[in-house]
Amino acid sequence: MPHPRHGLFDLRPPSTPAEWEAYHRIRQDVLLEAKKYAVEHADELVPGHHPLLLWLDQKPVGSIRIDIDSVGRAGLRLVAVDPDLQKQGCGRALLRLAEEFARAHGCTRAVLYATLDAVGFYAKAGYQEEDWDDVYVSGIVQMAKLLCDATEGETR
Ligand SMILES: CC(C)(COP(=O)(O)OP(=O)(O)OC[C@H]1O[C@@H](n2cnc3c(N)ncnc32)[C@H](O)[C@@H]1OP(=O)(O)O)[C@@H](O)C(=O)NCCC(=O)NCCS
Repeated sequence: MPHPRHGLFDLRPPSTPAEWEAYHRIRQDVLLEAKKYAVEHADELVPGHHPLLLWLDQKPVGSIRIDIDSVGRAGLRLVAVDPDLQKQGCGRALLRLAEEFARAHGCTRAVLYATLDAVGFYAKAGYQEEDWDDVYVSGIVQMAKLLCDATEGETR
């Protein structure tokens, strides 16, 4: 299956030790939760879980894990952009390519747990608050988006 591309952005699995290092470094720099995910963490290796690195030209700039479940949902996990490159469109490209990846794997919905700080970012990309999981976590907003059309629901 070809890797999704969008302009100069490319989303693909880390494949060398240096790429794995970049994958973990980017998310550990910006997400407290990521610190528990060492390279060997079992969640990274579950079938259907896809660790992916976002490239801008030749530089790794973001990371995400897409967990595909048996009912056609793509869980977007540990969404992260290099702190030096935030607010420049990388996050938007990361979501767009993640959704393309999910569609290519047969998913019809993307779901995620957003921190309060990130709710606005996901809302701009067409995600809506929706309780798709019955677990309640304080300070976390559950959000979801139908994956019918590549740009449906985006505010730009
Ligand atoms: C959240 C994150 C992935 C966004 O990436 P980014 O590269 O800064 O986002 P972009 O520059 O592509 O922004 C896309 C749009 O969302 C907006 N946006 C970005 N971060 C936002 C935020 N925290 N709140 C509200 N809007 C936000 C931007 O202003 C932009 O709006 P525009 O289309 O009107 O210009 C990034 O800031 C990050 O890694 N944060 C730390 C980790 C994190 O919080 N991850 C999500 C946990 S659920």
